[in-house]
Amino acid sequence: MSDDQEIFYVCSCYYTHNIFLSQFSLHVTYIDDETFSKNWRQILKNKGCTSDEAYTDVLKQVKTEVERRKSLGHKYLERRQKISEGYTPLHPNIYKLQTSYLSPKFLELVEVSKQDSTSKENLLKRINIEKGERIYSFPMFTEEFCHLFKEEIEHFEGTDLPKGRPNTMNNYGVLMNELGFDKDFITPLRLSYITPITRLLYPDWGGDSLDSHKAFVVKYKIGEDLSLNYHYDNAEVTVNLSLESDFSEGSLYFGGMRHLRLEETECTEYCHKPTHGLIHRGQHMHGALPISHGERYNLIIWMRSSRVRNKLCPMCDRKPQLIKTVGFGDGFTKTEKQTVDVCCAL
Ligand SMILES: [Fe+2]
Ligand SMILES: [Zn+2]
Repeated sequence: MSDDQEIFYVCSCYYTHNIFLSQFSLHVTYIDDETFSKNWRQILKNKGCTSDEAYTDVLKQVKTEVERRKSLGHKYLERRQKISEGYTPLHPNIYKLQTSYLSPKFLELVEVSKQDSTSKENLLKRINIEKGERIYSFPMFTEEFCHLFKEEIEHFEGTDLPKGRPNTMNNYGVLMNELGFDKDFITPLRLSYITPITRLLYPDWGGDSLDSHKAFVVKYKIGEDLSLNYHYDNAEVTVNLSLESDFSEGSLYFGGMRHLRLEETECTEYCHKPTHGLIHRGQHMHGALPISHGERYNLIIWMRSSRVRNKLCPMCDRKPQLIKTVGFGDGFTKTEKQTVDVCCAL
């Protein structure tokens, strides 16, 4: 089924789980005030949230985040509409993927991957094998394309048009679907170029059936977001591409797969190379070290396989409880006999 026909959903845990409190580097769950107090008050106290006033502020912060998530669907549609009517792209040509934007080396990897049964060996001979388990990198776009793309993002950032946050942990950046890059750029990139490679590298993570994505550009800058806490992605496979090299430090570090604490694993580091994509399993825990100078723009593509995630939601470890939304949602699809709740916000 094509992307246009498939209907995607979010799991109900999106409105209750994984609410990030950056001041405590803590993800919490909220169902109601009483349960929250029972589950989190002592933990927050241990982290320095001792007074009643401070606790009330945290509770307010959590509830605001829940409300933000509930209104995300229609807010997205509003923003998309305003942007498509009010934004004049700086480089309109780059909104439609062309082969010429891609690095010849990347095209070679795609071709090799599409060949016969020896493809995987041939791919592994050509792709950069990074430190850490099943982490790879490769030149992805041309320098020229990365430059134009970064200019486009900066141009959009300079407007006063509304902008959604990329995810719950990054405060600065641009969502690719809101800007209009999804249909003719990210979707064909995923289907025609990335999937032949992920089919060989991550068949156990749905690398052969990545049927939706969430793509965004994140920005790290002195005075804004500098680093990113240790986390896993809401994705089966992630591509992380560094656009240009106007920054110092800010490497990525990888630990173990999720459920393993940072202290229990040995970390490896990856230093971003401009125009190169880094590819890893979404549930491979990682974080970004602080940049010490300049600014860094990365294009992140979270790719989802409904075949894999329909069995278990990676964010709550339960069978997903489907809720209707707009666009790709969180990449779940309806399997037989599953019921769907309609989110009150839509
Ligand atoms: Fe991430
Ligand atoms: Zn869930």
